[in-house]
Amino acid sequence: MNYRHAYHAGNFADVVKHVVLSRLIDYLKQKDKAFRVIDTHAGIGRYDLSSVEAQKTGEWQGGIGRLIDAQIDKSAAALLAPYLEAVRSLNPDGGVKKYPGSPLIARHLLRKQDRLSAIELHDQDASRLKTLFAGDFQTRVIELDGWLALGAHLPPKEKRGLVLIDPPFEEAGEFDRLVDGMQKAHKRWPGGIYALWYPIKDRKAIIAFRKALKQSGVPKLLDIEFEIRPASREPSLDGSGMVVVNPPFTLERELRIVLPVLHRLLAVEKPAHWSLEWLAGEQP
Ligand SMILES: C[S@@+](CC[C@H](N)C(=O)[O-])C[C@H]1O[C@@H](n2cnc3c(N)ncnc32)[C@H](O)[C@@H]1O
Repeated sequence: MNYRHAYHAGNFADVVKHVVLSRLIDYLKQKDKAFRVIDTHAGIGRYDLSSVEAQKTGEWQGGIGRLIDAQIDKSAAALLAPYLEAVRSLNPDGGVKKYPGSPLIARHLLRKQDRLSAIELHDQDASRLKTLFAGDFQTRVIELDGWLALGAHLPPKEKRGLVLIDPPFEEAGEFDRLVDGMQKAHKRWPGGIYALWYPIKDRKAIIAFRKALKQSGVPKLLDIEFEIRPASREPSLDGSGMVVVNPPFTLERELRIVLPVLHRLLAVEKPAHWSLEWLAGEQP
């Protein structure tokens, strides 16, 4: 496991992923009943953007750095507010020096009745995450293979909630594992919401991934694609995607407001597209 998220924290792909995460949690909060967020590949939870790793790539400057002080129209600003509040809560003096990872964003958005399970396999990362959430009875940090958690930890006792699956894509076969893992999880907990992150880098792999998802038999699948530039000649992160299983009925409408705003701010080269497509279920 060589992947270190500290090099990439706060980049465009994190922004899109965390905005979707925050919209899903915001929806779950519409009912009083408790829910659980399960983050199967949680990372370290909080990132210092002045660290050697973050400075080396500077990726956050093309992500949260472009968004944090941007002028945004009212309707998009209201939808982005939960996410941006989570970022601002780490940066009380303004700007963005620290960036919250997915478990910290989720935790920021929970109410007192809700719970978070943050799973991380890398021993040092898991131990940093445990320190970050020490004493927090609403959060359980587990050092475990996240793919195993999709079996053993589902369904959660709350029977409402969301599973974020955000693997590092450093090994071959990660797209296949994503499809298998999601299918296994969906069998155990068909009513859960699942958000599956994937890189837009290897276009052939994405075509096969989408085909496998369509054939998976999972009935409601919304695919979000967000490119920041046209396909590069050499493999490079040209965009990122998320497939949401059982998306709330509000999600598509919300993303049609938010994604064009993010795209205007974050895309670096034209033509670059963003799209929302139902791979299964609800059609526009
Ligand atoms: C893309 S990063 C996660 C970023 C985080 N979800 C966020 O949005 O802030 C992927 C993480 O998965 C961890 N990881 C790699 N293989 C894993 C596995 N099999 N189970 C759980 N975590 C794993 C890596 O150590 C890394 O911290």
